[in-house]
Amino acid sequence: MNEKQRKEGQQIRQVDSTDIKSDSNHNLSRIKDMSSDDLISKYFQSTYEPPNMKKAKKRRREDIQIHYDFDIPEEMRGIGKGKKFMIRTYGCQMNEHDTEVMAGILTQMGYISTEDTSDADIILLNTCAIRENAENKVFGEIGHLKPLKLENPDVIVGICGCMSQEESVVNRILKKHPFIDLIFGTHNIHRLPQLIKEAMFGKEMVVEVWSKEGDIIENLPKVRKGKIKAWVNIMYGCDKFCTYCIVPYTRGKERSRMPEDIIQEVRHLAAQGYKEVTLLGQNVNAYGKDLEFEYGLGELMDEMRKIDIPRVRFTTSHPRDFDDHLIEVIAKGGNLLDHIHLPVQSGSSDILRVMARRYTREDYLKLVKKIKDAMPNVTLTTDIIVGFPNETDEQFEETMTLMEEVGFESAYTFIYSPREGTPSARWEDNIPMEVKKERLQRLNKLVNDQSAEAMKKYQDQVVKVLVEGESKKDPDVLSGYTDKNKLVNFRAPKDLIGQIVEVKVVNTKTWTLDGELVEAAVEVK
Ligand code: SAH
Ligand code: SF4
Ligand code: F3S
Repeated sequence: MNEKQRKEGQQIRQVDSTDIKSDSNHNLSRIKDMSSDDLISKYFQSTYEPPNMKKAKKRRREDIQIHYDFDIPEEMRGIGKGKKFMIRTYGCQMNEHDTEVMAGILTQMGYISTEDTSDADIILLNTCAIRENAENKVFGEIGHLKPLKLENPDVIVGICGCMSQEESVVNRILKKHPFIDLIFGTHNIHRLPQLIKEAMFGKEMVVEVWSKEGDIIENLPKVRKGKIKAWVNIMYGCDKFCTYCIVPYTRGKERSRMPEDIIQEVRHLAAQGYKEVTLLGQNVNAYGKDLEFEYGLGELMDEMRKIDIPRVRFTTSHPRDFDDHLIEVIAKGGNLLDHIHLPVQSGSSDILRVMARRYTREDYLKLVKKIKDAMPNVTLTTDIIVGFPNETDEQFEETMTLMEEVGFESAYTFIYSPREGTPSARWEDNIPMEVKKERLQRLNKLVNDQSAEAMKKYQDQVVKVLVEGESKKDPDVLSGYTDKNKLVNFRAPKDLIGQIVEVKVVNTKTWTLDGELVEAAVEVK
């Protein structure tokens, strides 16, 4: 398929959907009439296909289709008039951004947003499957919503996001939480209007989860969370299949948006006055690999430099695909910030091999050296998993030494959590949980120390802060982030919110800086 054909796109594929019954009294009793086993077997016999992780892995590049024809059917536009929606978001930036898209679709359907569950006509939980505790939180929330649903059977409760892509989760909801009205997957977001209509008027729980999907839907409406910083997807999915990770199954294959679509979106954000964009993808360094022409993240970032927006970030990077051209482009500076989040996961080459990360400790250090040579002031942060199956004390020590050797200024640290369907979940593990917890504690102490140390460098320095709003703790204090992503609190007039201002650091803490406004009158670029 050539670029033009891709760009022209095709009709959005429709899945079979059960007839929409003209019965608005959809309520709990309908579901309760059926036993949960009946429900499950009904779904498995019908057109509904459960999420299938094996199928999710069988993917081919040529399947990618781009659709530019998203539209909300006329009859569904007013369906939400006088009604409210609430979306609770779990997980990563990708989910945050998907929530903005769902909010956009619901707004176009006439709904308005609310923060209050008891006030909402539609409640959606946009879920995360990355670790077991993320899933437990969602199941806890589902439990909390049951009394609300019993009290008000007309409220529509839906589960979406990464957990919906897991077969076991869908089965558990069918079996244990039949009061849920709607389950839809990460590839089905654009179908929200149709799905809501089905949930409203149909008799059964609506389940629509596509397992193997390679489509990109452009022109989706968005209601962004703020007017200062914005997320912009540059690609979807992940093909890396790290042995512990569920994302390649929940988000589908790697597929890049066309450069011109991204550039246009960022230009539009700049024109609207946004001050910062973060380009999003699970592995942004793979950007462009699936395009029919030679184009990568380096080329895209070079285009970003030409756009009149003060700050451009990107996340998340995979060390394996971080090429020299990208380093060269970021090193040019301008609006490209030299803070790079570069997840390493482990400092041991043996553990990295069984994680299928496809680089060694030495490769990673070489890459860090290249980046530092090109950008001497770069700030590096990372993600680390401790207690991977059979990780020895020595292997863990290698993570500790790598943390120091690179000089990470902060890190997200996690205890390994087996995810059903991933290769490592089947492996025996001889490391007791107590030991894993001790390792996490030791690592976190080191992370805190390194962060505090990095913060000290800013004492008495003047930093540029993008002012985001009042601080969470004190409404008289404003807060915002430096170009290195350090949170700064300082007293200043509220009309500076949304501007980039100079602040002198007067005190440093482990995770934040306290400052004093230097120049209120002039906004700095
Ligand atoms: N795409 C990004 C990370 C996405 S998930 C990357 O490859 O770097 C965010 C982080 O969650 C990962 O970096 C990893 O540290 C952690 N993570 C993923 N799966 C996990 C699991 N099964 N148990 C514990 N942590 C996990
Ligand atoms: Fe998961 Fe690895 Fe993909 Fe990151 S690169 S999302 S850790 S499979
Ligand atoms: Fe979670 Fe899905 Fe993001 S599993 S981390 S919400 S891609």
